[in-house]
Amino acid sequence: ELNGYAHFMEKEIFEQPAALENSMRGRFSEDGSTAKFGGLNLGPVDFRQIDRFAFLGCGTAWHSCLVAEHLIERFARVPVEVDYASEFRYRNAPLSGNPLFFVMSQSGETIDTLGALREAQRKGYKVLAINNTVGSTIAREADGGIYQHVGPEIGVASTKAFTSQLLIGAMLALHVARMRDMSFADGVEYVNALKSAPNLVRKALEQAGHIKAIAQRLAKYNDMLFLGRLSLFPIALEGALKLKEISYIHAEGYPAAEMKHGPIALINELCPSVFFAPKGEIFNKVVSSMQEVKARKGPVIAIITEGCELPEGLADEVITIPDCHEAVLPIVATIPVQLLSYYIAVARDCDVDKPRNLAKSVTVE
Ligand code: F6R
Repeated sequence: ELNGYAHFMEKEIFEQPAALENSMRGRFSEDGSTAKFGGLNLGPVDFRQIDRFAFLGCGTAWHSCLVAEHLIERFARVPVEVDYASEFRYRNAPLSGNPLFFVMSQSGETIDTLGALREAQRKGYKVLAINNTVGSTIAREADGGIYQHVGPEIGVASTKAFTSQLLIGAMLALHVARMRDMSFADGVEYVNALKSAPNLVRKALEQAGHIKAIAQRLAKYNDMLFLGRLSLFPIALEGALKLKEISYIHAEGYPAAEMKHGPIALINELCPSVFFAPKGEIFNKVVSSMQEVKARKGPVIAIITEGCELPEGLADEVITIPDCHEAVLPIVATIPVQLLSYYIAVARDCDVDKPRNLAKSVTVE
Protein backbone atom coordinates (compact mmCIF):
# COMPACT_ATOMS: atom_id res chain seq x y z
CA GLU A 1 0.00 0.00 0.00
CA LEU A 2 2.94 2.31 0.58
CA ASN A 3 4.06 1.99 -3.06
CA GLY A 4 7.71 2.25 -2.11
CA TYR A 5 7.30 5.23 0.22
CA ALA A 6 8.56 4.98 3.80
CA HIS A 7 5.40 6.39 5.39
CA PHE A 8 1.84 7.26 4.45
CA MET A 9 2.63 10.88 5.14
CA GLU A 10 5.39 10.83 2.53
CA LYS A 11 3.14 9.05 0.04
CA GLU A 12 0.33 11.51 0.63
CA ILE A 13 2.66 14.51 0.23
CA PHE A 14 3.81 13.19 -3.14
CA GLU A 15 0.27 12.28 -4.18
CA GLN A 16 -0.80 15.92 -4.04
CA PRO A 17 -0.58 16.72 -7.78
CA ALA A 18 -3.03 13.90 -8.50
CA ALA A 19 -5.19 14.74 -5.47
CA LEU A 20 -5.56 18.34 -6.69
CA GLU A 21 -6.56 17.08 -10.16
CA ASN A 22 -9.26 14.99 -8.54
CA SER A 23 -10.60 17.90 -6.47
CA MET A 24 -10.90 20.06 -9.61
CA ARG A 25 -12.24 17.52 -12.07
CA GLY A 26 -15.49 18.60 -13.76
CA ARG A 27 -15.69 21.75 -11.67
CA PHE A 28 -15.04 24.49 -14.23
CA SER A 29 -17.65 26.12 -16.43
CA GLU A 30 -17.56 25.33 -20.16
CA ASP A 31 -16.41 28.84 -21.00
CA GLY A 32 -13.46 28.32 -18.63
CA SER A 33 -14.13 31.44 -16.57
CA THR A 34 -15.52 30.15 -13.29
CA ALA A 35 -15.88 27.19 -10.95
CA LYS A 36 -19.08 25.23 -10.53
CA PHE A 37 -20.18 22.81 -7.84
CA GLY A 38 -22.96 20.25 -8.13
CA GLY A 39 -23.88 19.88 -4.49
CA LEU A 40 -24.44 23.37 -3.11
CA ASN A 41 -28.24 23.00 -3.30
CA LEU A 42 -28.38 26.74 -3.77
CA GLY A 43 -29.30 28.41 -7.06
CA PRO A 44 -27.49 31.51 -8.36
CA VAL A 45 -30.29 33.82 -7.23
CA ASP A 46 -30.11 32.52 -3.66
CA PHE A 47 -26.33 32.54 -3.75
CA ARG A 48 -26.40 36.18 -4.87
CA GLN A 49 -28.30 37.11 -1.67
CA ILE A 50 -25.53 35.87 0.59
CA ASP A 51 -23.86 38.91 2.14
CA ARG A 52 -21.42 37.13 4.45
CA PHE A 53 -19.75 33.77 4.86
CA ALA A 54 -18.90 31.98 8.08
CA PHE A 55 -16.32 29.18 8.03
CA LEU A 56 -15.86 26.72 10.88
CA GLY A 57 -13.30 23.98 11.40
CA CYS A 58 -10.65 22.58 13.74
CA GLY A 59 -6.87 22.28 13.51
CA THR A 60 -5.57 22.06 9.99
CA ALA A 61 -9.10 22.55 8.60
CA TRP A 62 -9.32 25.83 10.54
CA HIS A 63 -6.14 26.95 8.74
CA SER A 64 -7.73 26.23 5.37
CA CYS A 65 -10.76 28.28 6.48
CA LEU A 66 -8.40 31.23 7.10
CA VAL A 67 -7.02 30.96 3.57
CA ALA A 68 -10.55 30.78 2.15
CA GLU A 69 -11.35 33.94 4.11
CA HIS A 70 -8.40 35.73 2.56
CA LEU A 71 -9.23 34.69 -1.01
CA ILE A 72 -13.00 35.32 -0.78
CA GLU A 73 -12.47 38.76 0.70
CA ARG A 74 -9.69 39.57 -1.76
CA PHE A 75 -11.39 38.40 -4.96
CA ALA A 76 -15.13 38.42 -4.21
CA ARG A 77 -15.13 41.32 -1.73
CA VAL A 78 -17.64 39.56 0.53
CA PRO A 79 -16.90 39.58 4.28
CA VAL A 80 -15.94 36.27 5.83
CA GLU A 81 -15.68 35.20 9.44
CA VAL A 82 -13.71 32.21 10.60
CA ASP A 83 -14.19 30.54 13.93
CA TYR A 84 -12.90 27.46 15.66
CA ALA A 85 -15.82 25.05 15.52
CA SER A 86 -15.31 24.25 19.20
CA GLU A 87 -15.60 27.93 20.17
CA PHE A 88 -18.49 28.74 17.85
CA ARG A 89 -20.65 26.05 19.48
CA TYR A 90 -20.54 27.78 22.85
CA ARG A 91 -19.80 31.40 21.98
CA ASN A 92 -23.34 32.34 20.99
CA ALA A 93 -22.09 34.77 18.35
CA PRO A 94 -24.54 37.41 17.16
CA LEU A 95 -25.13 37.00 13.43
CA SER A 96 -26.66 39.57 11.16
CA GLY A 97 -27.56 39.76 7.48
CA ASN A 98 -27.79 36.69 5.32
CA PRO A 99 -24.75 34.51 6.05
CA LEU A 100 -23.94 31.16 4.51
CA PHE A 101 -22.06 28.70 6.71
CA PHE A 102 -19.36 26.30 5.64
CA VAL A 103 -17.93 23.62 7.87
CA MET A 104 -14.52 22.27 6.81
CA SER A 105 -13.68 18.70 7.80
CA GLN A 106 -11.55 16.06 6.13
CA SER A 107 -13.04 13.17 8.11
CA GLY A 108 -16.55 14.53 8.46
CA GLU A 109 -16.60 13.01 11.96
CA THR A 110 -14.95 15.68 14.13
CA ILE A 111 -17.37 16.12 17.01
CA ASP A 112 -16.65 19.83 17.56
CA THR A 113 -17.30 20.58 13.89
CA LEU A 114 -20.46 18.49 13.92
CA GLY A 115 -21.61 20.35 17.07
CA ALA A 116 -20.99 23.69 15.36
CA LEU A 117 -22.93 22.57 12.28
CA ARG A 118 -25.89 21.57 14.45
CA GLU A 119 -25.75 24.85 16.37
CA ALA A 120 -25.78 26.92 13.15
CA GLN A 121 -28.65 24.84 11.76
CA ARG A 122 -30.57 25.22 15.03
CA LYS A 123 -30.31 28.96 14.58
CA GLY A 124 -31.88 28.57 11.15
CA TYR A 125 -28.82 28.92 8.96
CA LYS A 126 -27.96 26.83 5.95
CA VAL A 127 -24.70 24.95 6.45
CA LEU A 128 -22.63 23.47 3.63
CA ALA A 129 -19.75 21.06 4.21
CA ILE A 130 -16.36 20.82 2.56
CA ASN A 131 -15.50 17.24 3.32
CA ASN A 132 -13.41 14.34 2.04
CA THR A 133 -15.43 11.38 3.28
CA VAL A 134 -18.51 10.45 1.29
CA GLY A 135 -21.37 9.51 3.59
CA SER A 136 -19.71 10.88 6.75
CA THR A 137 -21.91 12.23 9.55
CA ILE A 138 -21.13 15.85 8.62
CA ALA A 139 -21.82 15.16 4.93
CA ARG A 140 -25.17 13.59 5.84
CA GLU A 141 -26.29 16.34 8.19
CA ALA A 142 -25.14 19.33 6.09
CA ASP A 143 -27.53 21.05 3.73
CA GLY A 144 -25.18 20.42 0.82
CA GLY A 145 -21.52 20.78 0.12
CA ILE A 146 -18.41 20.01 -1.80
CA TYR A 147 -16.56 16.71 -1.64
CA GLN A 148 -12.79 16.90 -1.82
CA HIS A 149 -12.32 13.58 -3.67
CA VAL A 150 -8.68 13.08 -2.63
CA GLY A 151 -9.09 9.50 -1.46
CA PRO A 152 -8.45 8.21 2.05
CA GLU A 153 -5.81 10.05 4.08
CA ILE A 154 -4.05 7.59 6.39
CA GLY A 155 -1.25 9.66 7.93
CA VAL A 156 -2.53 11.36 11.07
CA ALA A 157 -0.95 14.67 10.01
CA SER A 158 -3.13 16.06 7.25
CA THR A 159 -1.34 16.85 3.97
CA LYS A 160 -3.23 16.20 0.74
CA ALA A 161 -6.59 16.89 2.39
CA PHE A 162 -5.27 20.30 3.46
CA THR A 163 -4.05 21.42 0.02
CA SER A 164 -7.29 20.15 -1.50
CA GLN A 165 -9.23 22.31 0.99
CA LEU A 166 -7.09 25.27 -0.06
CA LEU A 167 -7.95 24.55 -3.68
CA ILE A 168 -11.67 24.27 -2.99
CA GLY A 169 -11.57 27.52 -1.01
CA ALA A 170 -9.85 29.18 -4.00
CA MET A 171 -12.51 27.78 -6.37
CA LEU A 172 -15.26 29.02 -4.09
CA ALA A 173 -13.70 32.49 -4.05
CA LEU A 174 -13.74 32.41 -7.86
CA HIS A 175 -17.35 31.21 -7.97
CA VAL A 176 -18.49 34.05 -5.73
CA ALA A 177 -16.24 36.63 -7.40
CA ARG A 178 -17.62 35.83 -10.85
CA MET A 179 -21.16 36.36 -9.51
CA ARG A 180 -20.08 39.80 -8.34
CA ASP A 181 -17.52 41.86 -10.17
CA MET A 182 -14.70 39.70 -11.47
CA SER A 183 -14.43 40.04 -15.26
CA PHE A 184 -14.56 37.17 -17.73
CA ALA A 185 -10.88 37.70 -18.60
CA ASP A 186 -9.78 37.70 -14.95
CA GLY A 187 -11.91 34.59 -14.43
CA VAL A 188 -10.18 32.79 -17.31
CA GLU A 189 -6.78 33.75 -15.93
CA TYR A 190 -7.79 32.48 -12.47
CA VAL A 191 -9.10 29.17 -13.86
CA ASN A 192 -5.92 28.64 -15.84
CA ALA A 193 -3.90 29.32 -12.71
CA LEU A 194 -5.86 26.70 -10.76
CA LYS A 195 -5.40 24.20 -13.57
CA SER A 196 -1.65 24.75 -13.37
CA ALA A 197 -1.59 24.01 -9.61
CA PRO A 198 -0.77 20.27 -9.92
CA ASN A 199 2.26 21.03 -12.09
CA LEU A 200 3.46 23.80 -9.81
CA VAL A 201 3.16 21.44 -6.84
CA ARG A 202 5.16 18.86 -8.81
CA LYS A 203 7.86 21.51 -9.27
CA ALA A 204 7.81 22.41 -5.58
CA LEU A 205 8.19 18.70 -4.72
CA GLU A 206 11.40 18.57 -6.78
CA GLN A 207 13.07 20.41 -3.89
CA ALA A 208 12.56 17.36 -1.63
CA GLY A 209 16.24 16.31 -1.64
CA HIS A 210 17.40 19.83 -0.82
CA ILE A 211 14.77 20.18 1.94
CA LYS A 212 15.77 16.82 3.42
CA ALA A 213 19.35 18.07 3.77
CA ILE A 214 18.12 21.25 5.48
CA ALA A 215 15.88 19.17 7.76
CA GLN A 216 18.87 17.16 8.93
CA ARG A 217 20.56 20.39 10.00
CA LEU A 218 17.41 21.63 11.78
CA ALA A 219 16.48 18.40 13.56
CA LYS A 220 18.57 19.30 16.64
CA TYR A 221 16.53 22.38 17.59
CA ASN A 222 13.70 22.39 20.12
CA ASP A 223 11.94 25.65 19.20
CA MET A 224 11.05 27.12 15.83
CA LEU A 225 9.01 30.01 14.48
CA PHE A 226 7.06 30.11 11.21
CA LEU A 227 6.37 33.57 9.85
CA GLY A 228 4.24 34.59 6.89
CA ARG A 229 1.89 37.36 5.85
CA LEU A 230 -1.50 37.70 4.15
CA SER A 231 -2.57 34.37 2.66
CA LEU A 232 0.63 32.76 3.94
CA PHE A 233 0.02 33.60 7.58
CA PRO A 234 -2.31 30.56 7.82
CA ILE A 235 0.39 28.51 6.06
CA ALA A 236 2.83 29.62 8.78
CA LEU A 237 0.33 28.32 11.35
CA GLU A 238 0.05 25.07 9.40
CA GLY A 239 3.84 24.69 9.15
CA ALA A 240 4.12 25.13 12.91
CA LEU A 241 1.27 22.71 13.63
CA LYS A 242 2.70 20.05 11.30
CA LEU A 243 6.13 20.32 12.91
CA LYS A 244 4.87 20.07 16.48
CA GLU A 245 2.50 17.22 15.69
CA ILE A 246 5.02 14.85 14.19
CA SER A 247 8.44 15.92 15.50
CA TYR A 248 7.40 17.24 18.96
CA ILE A 249 9.44 20.37 18.37
CA HIS A 250 7.81 23.41 19.90
CA ALA A 251 6.80 25.68 17.05
CA GLU A 252 4.64 28.76 16.63
CA GLY A 253 3.23 30.52 13.62
CA TYR A 254 2.86 34.31 13.49
CA PRO A 255 2.24 37.03 10.95
CA ALA A 256 5.82 38.17 10.26
CA ALA A 257 5.24 41.73 11.46
CA GLU A 258 3.78 40.54 14.79
CA MET A 259 7.12 39.10 15.76
CA LYS A 260 8.36 42.40 17.15
CA HIS A 261 5.33 42.53 19.48
CA GLY A 262 6.49 39.65 21.65
CA PRO A 263 7.85 36.51 20.01
CA ILE A 264 11.11 38.27 19.13
CA ALA A 265 12.04 37.74 22.79
CA LEU A 266 12.48 34.05 21.94
CA ILE A 267 14.98 34.63 19.16
CA ASN A 268 18.57 33.48 19.68
CA GLU A 269 20.94 31.07 17.99
CA LEU A 270 18.81 28.15 19.24
CA CYS A 271 15.52 29.28 17.70
CA PRO A 272 15.35 29.17 13.89
CA SER A 273 12.66 31.06 11.95
CA VAL A 274 11.10 29.85 8.74
CA PHE A 275 9.99 32.85 6.66
CA PHE A 276 7.60 32.86 3.73
CA ALA A 277 8.88 35.64 1.48
CA PRO A 278 7.20 35.28 -1.90
CA LYS A 279 7.65 38.05 -4.43
CA GLY A 280 5.04 40.77 -4.29
CA GLU A 281 3.98 43.82 -2.38
CA ILE A 282 5.18 42.73 1.05
CA PHE A 283 8.47 41.07 0.08
CA ASN A 284 10.55 43.99 1.41
CA LYS A 285 8.61 44.04 4.67
CA VAL A 286 9.31 40.34 5.23
CA VAL A 287 12.98 40.94 4.44
CA SER A 288 13.14 43.53 7.24
CA SER A 289 11.61 41.01 9.66
CA MET A 290 14.32 38.55 8.60
CA GLN A 291 16.95 41.19 9.32
CA GLU A 292 15.56 41.61 12.84
CA VAL A 293 15.94 37.86 13.42
CA LYS A 294 19.41 37.75 11.90
CA ALA A 295 20.53 40.67 14.10
CA ARG A 296 19.65 38.51 17.13
CA LYS A 297 21.58 35.52 15.78
CA GLY A 298 18.44 33.54 14.93
CA PRO A 299 18.98 31.06 12.08
CA VAL A 300 16.86 32.10 9.05
CA ILE A 301 15.23 29.67 6.62
CA ALA A 302 13.71 31.60 3.72
CA ILE A 303 11.08 30.33 1.31
CA ILE A 304 11.26 32.63 -1.71
CA THR A 305 9.98 32.75 -5.27
CA GLU A 306 12.26 31.18 -7.87
CA GLY A 307 14.38 33.85 -9.55
CA CYS A 308 14.19 36.27 -6.59
CA GLU A 309 17.15 37.19 -4.45
CA LEU A 310 17.70 38.05 -0.84
CA PRO A 311 20.37 40.41 0.50
CA GLU A 312 23.71 38.62 0.75
CA GLY A 313 24.19 36.57 3.92
CA LEU A 314 20.66 37.08 5.26
CA ALA A 315 19.34 33.54 5.04
CA ASP A 316 21.10 30.45 6.34
CA GLU A 317 18.95 28.22 4.15
CA VAL A 318 16.94 29.12 1.04
CA ILE A 319 14.09 27.09 -0.45
CA THR A 320 12.43 28.22 -3.67
CA ILE A 321 8.87 27.85 -4.88
CA PRO A 322 7.66 28.48 -8.43
CA ASP A 323 6.10 31.83 -9.29
CA CYS A 324 2.31 31.58 -9.34
CA HIS A 325 -1.10 33.30 -9.17
CA GLU A 326 -2.22 34.51 -5.73
CA ALA A 327 -4.98 31.91 -5.63
CA VAL A 328 -2.45 29.08 -5.94
CA LEU A 329 0.32 30.53 -3.77
CA PRO A 330 -0.92 29.08 -0.44
CA ILE A 331 -1.03 25.58 -1.99
CA VAL A 332 2.46 25.81 -3.47
CA ALA A 333 3.92 27.39 -0.32
CA THR A 334 2.57 24.53 1.81
CA ILE A 335 4.76 21.94 0.08
CA PRO A 336 8.15 23.00 1.53
CA VAL A 337 6.83 23.13 5.10
CA GLN A 338 5.20 19.71 4.79
CA LEU A 339 8.49 18.28 3.52
CA LEU A 340 10.48 20.10 6.17
CA SER A 341 8.37 18.77 9.04
CA TYR A 342 8.29 15.27 7.53
CA TYR A 343 12.08 15.03 7.11
CA ILE A 344 12.75 16.60 10.52
CA ALA A 345 10.47 14.03 12.18
CA VAL A 346 12.17 11.20 10.29
CA ALA A 347 15.60 12.54 11.31
CA ARG A 348 14.41 12.54 14.94
CA ASP A 349 13.18 8.98 14.54
CA CYS A 350 9.58 9.84 15.35
CA ASP A 351 6.56 7.72 14.49
CA VAL A 352 5.49 9.97 11.63
CA ASP A 353 2.19 8.34 10.70
CA LYS A 354 1.03 7.80 14.27
CA PRO A 355 2.25 10.66 16.44
CA ARG A 356 1.75 10.31 20.18
CA ASN A 357 -1.52 11.51 21.72
CA LEU A 358 -3.20 12.11 18.36
CA ALA A 359 -5.99 10.31 16.51
CA LYS A 360 -6.97 10.67 12.88
CA SER A 361 -10.42 11.86 13.71
CA VAL A 362 -11.34 13.45 16.99
CA THR A 363 -14.75 12.16 17.94
CA VAL A 364 -14.65 13.30 21.55
CA GLU A 365 -15.06 16.83 22.82
C1 F6R B 1 -3.58 18.13 11.70
C2 F6R B 1 -4.84 17.44 11.74
C3 F6R B 1 -5.93 17.94 12.63
C4 F6R B 1 -7.25 17.91 11.89
C5 F6R B 1 -8.43 18.29 12.80
C6 F6R B 1 -9.74 18.36 12.04
O1 F6R B 1 -2.67 17.54 10.85
O2 F6R B 1 -5.01 16.48 11.02
O3 F6R B 1 -5.65 19.23 13.09
O4 F6R B 1 -7.18 18.79 10.80
O5 F6R B 1 -8.53 17.37 13.85
O6 F6R B 1 -10.02 17.16 11.40
P1 F6R B 1 -11.13 17.05 10.30
O7 F6R B 1 -10.67 17.84 9.11
O8 F6R B 1 -11.24 15.58 9.99
O9 F6R B 1 -12.39 17.63 10.87
